[in-house]
Amino acid sequence: MKERIFVFDTTLRDGEQAAGSRLDAREKLEIALQLARLGVDVIEAGFPCSSPQDFAAVELIAKEIRGPVICGLTRAVAKDIDACGQALAPAVRSRIHTGLGVSDIHIAGKFGDEKYGRTLAEKKVRVIEMAVAAVTHARGYTDDVEFYAEDSGRADRAYLFEVLQAVIEAGATVVNIPDTTGYALPAQYGALIRDIRTNVPGIDRAIISVHCHDDLGMATANTLAGIENGARQIECTINGIGERAGNAALEEAVMAIRTRRDVFMADTNITSRELYRTSRLVADRLGMTVPANKAIIGGNAFSHSSGIHVDGFLKKRETYEIIDPEEVGCPQARVVLTARTGRHGVRHRLEELGYDFSAEEIERIYQRFLSVADKKKEVFGEDLIALVQDEIRPVPDVFRLDRLKVQTETGTKPAVMVRLCHNDKTIEQTASGDGPVDAVYKAIARAAAMAPKLLRYEIQAITGGSEALGQVTVQLEMNGLSINGRGASTDIIEASAKAYIDGLNKLVSFR
Ligand code: KIV
Ligand code: ZN
Repeated sequence: MKERIFVFDTTLRDGEQAAGSRLDAREKLEIALQLARLGVDVIEAGFPCSSPQDFAAVELIAKEIRGPVICGLTRAVAKDIDACGQALAPAVRSRIHTGLGVSDIHIAGKFGDEKYGRTLAEKKVRVIEMAVAAVTHARGYTDDVEFYAEDSGRADRAYLFEVLQAVIEAGATVVNIPDTTGYALPAQYGALIRDIRTNVPGIDRAIISVHCHDDLGMATANTLAGIENGARQIECTINGIGERAGNAALEEAVMAIRTRRDVFMADTNITSRELYRTSRLVADRLGMTVPANKAIIGGNAFSHSSGIHVDGFLKKRETYEIIDPEEVGCPQARVVLTARTGRHGVRHRLEELGYDFSAEEIERIYQRFLSVADKKKEVFGEDLIALVQDEIRPVPDVFRLDRLKVQTETGTKPAVMVRLCHNDKTIEQTASGDGPVDAVYKAIARAAAMAPKLLRYEIQAITGGSEALGQVTVQLEMNGLSINGRGASTDIIEASAKAYIDGLNKLVSFR
């Protein structure tokens, strides 16, 4: 008999928190829609009390997404819980995720003020009172309340059991046991979950959730150890993004449970064919490129190079592959499109990759495909996904690139001319700079009358060859707000210009 493991996705909260740049509410909604398609059980959409933008994003997701439970994070503070309850009000099924630090280090560090008690022992009593009050208050908004015992990985066991017993009595339906600092080792973390199951009175009335960080590279291993010892919810993020070294990667935990059913005797509700597309969407919108050697969804996860491996693989795939790439939606290199592929062929390939676009969107993607296929002999699945993400964006094009002229010559400063479309007008500007990208960015900033700081510039080739599609990511900061812009083109200067303009559009959209 297979047991059900619930998947709690925190890409939009723990993940976004770490990315260093903000997502617009519409981008968050776009990711939430994809997470719903992927089949996650819970979407942690944000921390509503942290900013008006986060409140708006959680509220929008609560309004629009049907299927998964929509969850918001709070501290164990009434005003946080009130904001969260209000943001989640439109959701069909909502969860409030509240909690506080329970290790001695957290209690002494965060609750140092005498109002929490003079001694550590007094503070610990106060922490339990605050935890109970928070859960009770949250239950006023929803029946589904998750309590996080922050830094459980380093907490005193007996005290942790006491906290958990108290919050379950107060109405917590899920108890989250975070290894906040990524300190635990798999055997220890597994034993912690087992001890909670055997020592906390009333634990059968709550689901035990595991939330592991990757500081020692153990996040997925600890998550799985938790499952083996009775946890029934896993908290993870797409591509493993999250605070510092990140959280447990959803794709790794889910595929480990599925591939090793023989060990776990359990499964999730995840539609694994959506994993690759979800991974690329999150990487694109958060500007965090997936390393080629990343398990399950990295560019090399299914490529074989050594002679012995290739020979064995060609004779029988299972010789060197434990997962069929199609199972995780990884586009197969053997399916290639060319300039002669018609609309129908492109639409068919998009459907195979899991997309469902309107006729107008298909036409836009097809026109982009034609211009790329013109320059690049073969268009692969990865290229098509990059084109889709470049063309179908949730943030409106306040500025759009109309024309770009670049002159470079060894020994002289590059000179550029940029023409932008803005509100039915075109604006032209020229500039020179230390390199073509620098000159292009100066001209665009002048044309848009905006002067953001460029914090990061990154370029990546989507597939091999000198005619490969280049994908540029920029991180821009203006008035304390930091966002990412992305652009793709076979011409890397054009991709750079588009990424910068995409960033400007997001800054305007936040304003
Ligand atoms: O890592 C952690 O402890 C957290 C909690 C806020 C759930 O992210
Ligand atoms: Zn965390």
